Amino acid sequence: MADLSTNYLGLQLKNPIVVGSSGLTDSVAKIKNLEAAGAGAVVLKSLFEEEIIMEMEETIHTMTNRHFVFPETMDYMQTVVKEDILTNYLEMITGAKKAVQIPVIASINCISSQKWTSFAKEIEKAGADALELNLFFLPSDNQRGEKEIIEATLEIIAKVKSSIKIPIALKISPYQTNVIRYVEQIDQAGVEGIVLFNRSWMPDIDIHNFVLNSGFVLSSPSDLGNTLRWVSIISGRVICDVAASTGVHDTAALIKQLLAGAQITQVVSTLYHNDLTQIRKMTDELSKWMDENEFETIGDFRGRLSRANSGNPAAWERVQFMKHFRNFI
Ligand SMILES: Cc1cc2nc3c(=O)[nH]c(=O)nc-3n(C[C@H](O)[C@H](O)[C@H](O)COP(=O)(O)O)c2cc1C
Repeated sequence: MADLSTNYLGLQLKNPIVVGSSGLTDSVAKIKNLEAAGAGAVVLKSLFEEEIIMEMEETIHTMTNRHFVFPETMDYMQTVVKEDILTNYLEMITGAKKAVQIPVIASINCISSQKWTSFAKEIEKAGADALELNLFFLPSDNQRGEKEIIEATLEIIAKVKSSIKIPIALKISPYQTNVIRYVEQIDQAGVEGIVLFNRSWMPDIDIHNFVLNSGFVLSSPSDLGNTLRWVSIISGRVICDVAASTGVHDTAALIKQLLAGAQITQVVSTLYHNDLTQIRKMTDELSKWMDENEFETIGDFRGRLSRANSGNPAAWERVQFMKHFRNFI
């Protein structure tokens, strides 16, 4: 019987399927179900500083409309709203740690540099096993170049690292001028893991009502290729662990990411498309595939087709269609 266990961020996981940050991981009850369904670990829904700010603005707006606002109540209300959301999040961590054996990884997305560290400290105190920093710089800001984005990233890492001891993973966007350079600097800054990639909200346009809509929230299997390319290129170049996120919908995709060098894969959309039984299906099929190929542990084949080991590194970097699409006429 194949051994599916793996190590991620210094944590021992019974298998390489981690349920990614999402609505699937936003309560203790759901996390218990995910453990029962066979997940190797969970990443909690992110605590968004922006959400706290929006909630504060909404509360103040409501109070202003009702003529309840005095300058001294404003400060008080801001603190109450902030503490409410933060307290709920910390209670979820503590509750989850009591309820399950699998590692519980918290996640934050902040705007102000001070919050990255204060949230991180609270989260560590609440008992999270690790922390994923959900970083997103949309490159639509033409004032901020690659250098500024790298500097901002390294500053956040340095601040968070100096304030907590639990392992840190950085979840980044696929939209970078130079992914390798960006990731190598993140690695050198001493993070324990890098998550490739975050998925941004997809806009759409309602052509009948002339309004902006939400596009595809969930990924599809065809989204795998981009992550696969970068996992294979990056995995041989960094010391930190590499987690594959985006487009992992079935066992074949999971195996491909492990062959490309990922330590673990995060899954979200496939659990929405199917249901939680997909986790057990994938671990059972992985085990069967390993037996068939006479692999006893994941270490026996992980990274075998990474860019460094594939014997054809140029293929991973091919971006033009050239001869591959020549027959598509
Ligand atoms: C409904 C939903 C909510 C999500 N919320 C978060 C979040 O709070 N923080 C985060 O880092 N990623 C969030 N994500 C992104 C996922 O963690 C994941 O990176 C993305 O869905 C790609 O993985 P997939 O192809 O397995 O879906 C969310 C995704 C979905 C579909």
